[in-house]
Amino acid sequence: MTLPLFDDDALAEPSTEVLGPAAFVLRAFALNQASDLLHEIEGVANISPHRHMTTPGGHTMSAAMTSCGQLGWVSDARGYRYVAVDPLTGKAWPAMPDRLRNLAQEAAASAGFADFRPDTCLINRYLPGDRMSLHQDKNESNLNAPIVSVSLGIPATFLFGGIERSEPTRRVQLRHGDVVVWGGEDRLRFHGILPLKPDDHRLVGPRRFNLTFRCAG
Ligand code: SIN
Ligand code: FE2
Repeated sequence: MTLPLFDDDALAEPSTEVLGPAAFVLRAFALNQASDLLHEIEGVANISPHRHMTTPGGHTMSAAMTSCGQLGWVSDARGYRYVAVDPLTGKAWPAMPDRLRNLAQEAAASAGFADFRPDTCLINRYLPGDRMSLHQDKNESNLNAPIVSVSLGIPATFLFGGIERSEPTRRVQLRHGDVVVWGGEDRLRFHGILPLKPDDHRLVGPRRFNLTFRCAG
């Protein structure tokens, strides 16, 4: 077999890194489906476009967001919550494509979470400089279900902390095709994304997409 010399993605090998008792990075787990996933993201964004939401404190979030599934995550002056109707279009969020749901189920199962049935997938789009500050995912009504997070495009530094905001954070490089799964006792760990460095991905361009699957309803 001849390996391309200058293509990092093609050289990435599947492997698992342990971040906690119930938290794992599945390296390159989504790599061979990446172009199909990007196509599905485009389909969702054609119906419910990416938009910059406002935090309850009045700040505009740097990552642009949309959702698919029965519920979508929104933030505005009234707070963070899941809603069945996209406030931008006034219509239901686009259905979760089977390919996305299947990938999330397979990733959850390989991390030890059988029967993961996500009802929402938040799709974040980051440009160089965009970030996400340290937060917990706790707007979901089912905290027994894990979170499955898929990264596509330019790399990002993921911060993975503890259950208290003040605990130290670990830095994890997330690359195109990597999947992170965290649940169980790790479900409420603080996490975030450092400002993305300027970069250009051969398939995705100067952007990063992150898909997070959860059981919210
Ligand atoms: C999130 O916490 O919602 C996004 C994390 C990421 O972009 O990897
Ligand atoms: Fe999050």
